[in-house]
Amino acid sequence: MAFPQSFLDELIARNDIVDVVSSYVQLQRKGGNLFGLCPFHSEKTGSFSVSPDKQIYYCFGCKKGGGVVNFIMDIENLPFPDAVRFLAKRAGMEVPEEEGDREAGRRRQRLLDLNRDAARFYYQLLQQPEGRAVREYLDRRQIKKATAVKFGMGASPDAWDVLLTAMTKKGYTKSELLQAGLVVQNKNGGLYDKFRNRLMLPVIDTRGDVVAFGSRVLDKSEPKYMNSSETPVYSKRRVLYGLNLAKKTKRPNIILCEGNLDIVTLHQAGFDNAVASMGTALTVEQTRLLSRFTKELVLCYDNDNAGKIATERALQILNGSEFSVKVLQLPRRRTADGELVKQDADDFIKNQGPDAFERLLNGSENGVEFRMSQVAGKYDFTSDESRVAYCEEISNLLASLPGAVEREIYTVRAAETAGTSPDAMKLEVQRAFKRRVAKEKRAELRKDLNPAAQLQPRERALRYENIRSARAEEGVLRLLTLDESVFPPESPLREEQFSSPLLGKAYSLLWQAKCEGRSPTVSCLTGHLSGEEIAHITAICQQPESAQNAAQALADYIRIIQAEADKRAGGAAIDPLLAAVEKNKDKKGTGGKH
Ligand code: UTP
Ligand code: MN
Repeated sequence: MAFPQSFLDELIARNDIVDVVSSYVQLQRKGGNLFGLCPFHSEKTGSFSVSPDKQIYYCFGCKKGGGVVNFIMDIENLPFPDAVRFLAKRAGMEVPEEEGDREAGRRRQRLLDLNRDAARFYYQLLQQPEGRAVREYLDRRQIKKATAVKFGMGASPDAWDVLLTAMTKKGYTKSELLQAGLVVQNKNGGLYDKFRNRLMLPVIDTRGDVVAFGSRVLDKSEPKYMNSSETPVYSKRRVLYGLNLAKKTKRPNIILCEGNLDIVTLHQAGFDNAVASMGTALTVEQTRLLSRFTKELVLCYDNDNAGKIATERALQILNGSEFSVKVLQLPRRRTADGELVKQDADDFIKNQGPDAFERLLNGSENGVEFRMSQVAGKYDFTSDESRVAYCEEISNLLASLPGAVEREIYTVRAAETAGTSPDAMKLEVQRAFKRRVAKEKRAELRKDLNPAAQLQPRERALRYENIRSARAEEGVLRLLTLDESVFPPESPLREEQFSSPLLGKAYSLLWQAKCEGRSPTVSCLTGHLSGEEIAHITAICQQPESAQNAAQALADYIRIIQAEADKRAGGAAIDPLLAAVEKNKDKKGTGGKH
């Protein structure tokens, strides 16, 4: 992974952060910095900033930040070496490839090749006599041949090692097969095929690579679905089943469902905009992926408790995002015995047909309407007591809506539901709104009263041992990136004097850059620290620091750091003694001064 420093310097110099970020985010100048809507979390007002001077980006909302390489790593979902290659290409630079990198890239590619070959193998097996059971299953599920082909479906053999043998013959090693999650190891170290006698559903990413497999049993046995585990080429948080096809849709939105076969049925019925997160709740990474293809989402989860919870969670993730969100509620179906049962999209299309689904799609409620009807469903409007309780709950929901117009419109609607006057409902909502604001203020206040908690980095792994020293260490880093000229030619601090190993390491890296005649900026840390660590340093460096009294501030910081370091060094021997004295004092309960 070690690219030569001179190459990284040139790469960073040739990829101005403002230019790079501008191709993803619309930026507007405000003072010395530029601001825009953060591409890493959903928001309506811009808390994402870019500093042309420091060549860093930082989001005040989600606290992501770093230099230009980190930005590409975050936004393109790339590991460090790939982000470097991406930027090299952008700037027309040749990459001095390291043997190690080429090796990692090759290994990744081998896994993707293996997945593709396995998918082909399963696909071919489906057409052969051994694939008969799966073909019959597809018939039972009314999945047409053309649809199966489009999704690259296949059949895994009803045996223990057929894939293992076939792929070994093709030259893949046991370790590669294990890494791809296609074979499993038993207690004695023997290998066997993970997927046996199943309908195989390759998971294809938006680049067209087979990154994993989902699979379904053909009967009622468990587990019904078995999916690839996480592998170097597959993270389920970042993939949506069917998006490789849905990204080409002409429809204006994308439908999110729960199940793989719901997607298949929907596509077959002409809804080629359906995708599924395979058995997980919607993730932020997935919404980021979706935002590249659409600005309108339709949630179509099961109409049962789990589905409603999933819908509520997805609405929360999407609340305040740039997406407009609708909820498509599938009606329950009455069985011959008169029982009401849930239907998923697949059931519904089979029972009622595509036109009925199209009508549901057109009539689907927006997120607010969905949440309101969920609340209304809990109350009995023939009882006054229950109506009062409804008004109270609904006014809390209405008070949480971000827009005043939205609040007004739905307040009137809630009044209709409750059978009260709109004015009375408005009053309720105003009260709830005030309560909310007051509560937020109290929370703010509590935070202010507990500064120590605020001063800690959010990432647990980065927690400070010694806040007093760490604050001074942060100040040193800030000054070093702001104005190196206030520093003496020899380093005034040693890395070990830093109480926080991370801050100490960052200091050493910045100092080294300065010694080599480069300017010490956050970009110098790229490749040496993790993305989280760099985001943390970026957060520190973007905080205001007066350049006027810099020399004095630096002296103060250094004094604090040295004093705390001395305490630690001397303290090691004294500590147990001190602790004993302290303990004794508590026991006596005097607590008085000596
Ligand atoms: P469901 O149990 O709702 O199944 O799981 P389904 O999609 O309706 O399946 P069919 O119609 O019986 O074939 C929804 C999704 O959750 C994941 C799968 O991705 C499935 O499509 N799942 C479910 C698992 O990963 N493992 C399981 O054991 C069950
Ligand atoms: Mn189903």
